[in-house]
Amino acid sequence: MAILSSDFSSPAMVADTRGRHLRDLRISVTDRCNFRCTYCMPKEVYGRDFQFLERSQLLSFDEINRLVGIFKHHGVEKVRITGGEPLVRRQLERLIEMLAQDPSLDLTLTTNASLLKQKARLLKDAGLNRITVSLDSLDEAMFRAMNDVDFPVAKVLAGIEEADRVGLNPIKINMVVKRGVNDCAAVDMARHFKGSGHILRFIEFMDVGHTNGWQMEHVVPSRELAKRIDKVFPIEPTQPNYIGEVAERWRYKDGSGEIGFISSVTQAFCRDCTRTRLSAEGSVYTCLFATRGSDLRSLLRSGASDEQISDVIANIWRTRSDNYSEVRTAETAKLRKVEMSYIGG
Ligand code: GTP
Ligand code: 5AD
Ligand code: SF4
Ligand code: SF4
Repeated sequence: MAILSSDFSSPAMVADTRGRHLRDLRISVTDRCNFRCTYCMPKEVYGRDFQFLERSQLLSFDEINRLVGIFKHHGVEKVRITGGEPLVRRQLERLIEMLAQDPSLDLTLTTNASLLKQKARLLKDAGLNRITVSLDSLDEAMFRAMNDVDFPVAKVLAGIEEADRVGLNPIKINMVVKRGVNDCAAVDMARHFKGSGHILRFIEFMDVGHTNGWQMEHVVPSRELAKRIDKVFPIEPTQPNYIGEVAERWRYKDGSGEIGFISSVTQAFCRDCTRTRLSAEGSVYTCLFATRGSDLRSLLRSGASDEQISDVIANIWRTRSDNYSEVRTAETAKLRKVEMSYIGG
């Protein structure tokens, strides 16, 4: 029988080869999504014939919960549920309920909000703390073209509103900025969310996976974007909430809230990267730009004990040396990296 993680006898805080400790676990619960964002799941690749994972290949909620218990033993204190689109996984609230049994865990979720209006109350009641919503433009035609399934802006906004109403806040809004595609929508996004209490974050377009056709010319450096915002709504930098925070925080000088810039391309933040990722089929990836993962599902399904799995996780972390964003080149961008829809953002 599996033993409780608190019963493990050896101290478990392992540092990787760059002295970084494990703090955040991002769990993909499905590789499917009901959007086809052109920069993430282009239709030419994710068409009718695309082979998504079978149900039997996915980790069950019990398996995920068990792994989280072991990961917590290694220092994980924050869990983010991702996808694909996590809300397309049936009865996700059951998993939230299991994970929320530990009130010290910072439990959050990233969603495209297409199903959020119906799900927000269930998620809140299950114990989810807060939520992050992806939204790339408020311009109807632009947004519909980017999600490539003709999904309307209003439904995303309705989802955000409902999440706010039930108390899944502070809500963060992620906007991936691609030059010539939606960068002209950034100031409008700032205008819309300024004073709402929600935190808008601009993400530099990244070369995740190997199907999104990334080129450096598509990236709008955060510095440039900050200047553009500042011209219209004066902003100033503010202190990070914690060491290793992904987003650089800025606030409006008129006191109407904060915004963030996530600059993985122009200002890499690998030095303090405490994140690891678990794919929907139970493989661990120690970097968003990894080309290989380590399978935990077969261990889970072959009767391994918690201690055995714990040792494997400790070894994966101990030998980790990832710093992809510090060494990115046009060449590395072409590597067959794991897709973001498969391991989550
Ligand atoms: P909180 O501070 O808990 O709200 O989370 P966060 O700031 O880490 O935000 P979130 O998890 O929503 O991450 C925002 C985006 O930053 C992701 O969707 C990714 O695009 C990017 N990101 C997050 N973690 C990493 C990382 O380890 N490496 C890189 N390159 N990008 C990351
Ligand atoms: N570059 C930057 N961010 C991306 N996301 C998806 N693909 C990319 C990319 N190529 C974002 C999504 C979502 C989060 C999961 O990651 O928009 O906010
Ligand atoms: Fe789906 Fe998010 Fe990828 Fe868009 S970015 S296709 S919403 S997983
Ligand atoms: Fe961490 Fe890899 Fe992102 Fe660097 S590129 S911050 S190592 S996930």
